[in-house]
Amino acid sequence: MISRIDHLGIAVRSLDASIPYYERALGLRCEHREEVPSQQVRTAFFTVGEVHLELLEPMSAESPIAKFIEKNGEGVHHVAFATDDIVAQLGQASGAGVRLIHEKPFPGAAGKLVAFLHPKSTGGVLTEFCSPAGDAAAATAHA
Ligand code: CO
Repeated sequence: MISRIDHLGIAVRSLDASIPYYERALGLRCEHREEVPSQQVRTAFFTVGEVHLELLEPMSAESPIAKFIEKNGEGVHHVAFATDDIVAQLGQASGAGVRLIHEKPFPGAAGKLVAFLHPKSTGGVLTEFCSPAGDAAAATAHA
């Protein structure tokens, strides 16, 4: 079941160039930076109440974020919903006719399991499901 919005993913050309806006203009604090080689991105996290902001900088031209910025420029990239059972959530979406980018969850940033729905099936909003890692069923499904 989806419990809340976990984070908004925001595509940026450069974390170092973008973080000062969030820190100086908004008064937020960058809490965590992490590379996610599987997605070819460097991430930086901020917390706003229960919701996080995930800034995404491409690590290479092959990164999905590089392609997104090339096409759309910098800006909001995806909405991530927290779910307690990512495998069941993917099954529900798939059963409702939604095209999945990932049939099975994989390890994302911040120790979470993640999977994406195709924006062609979601009204143009790239949609992520994420669940805490350590979800044994999901981890097994991924392996
Ligand atoms: Co995300």
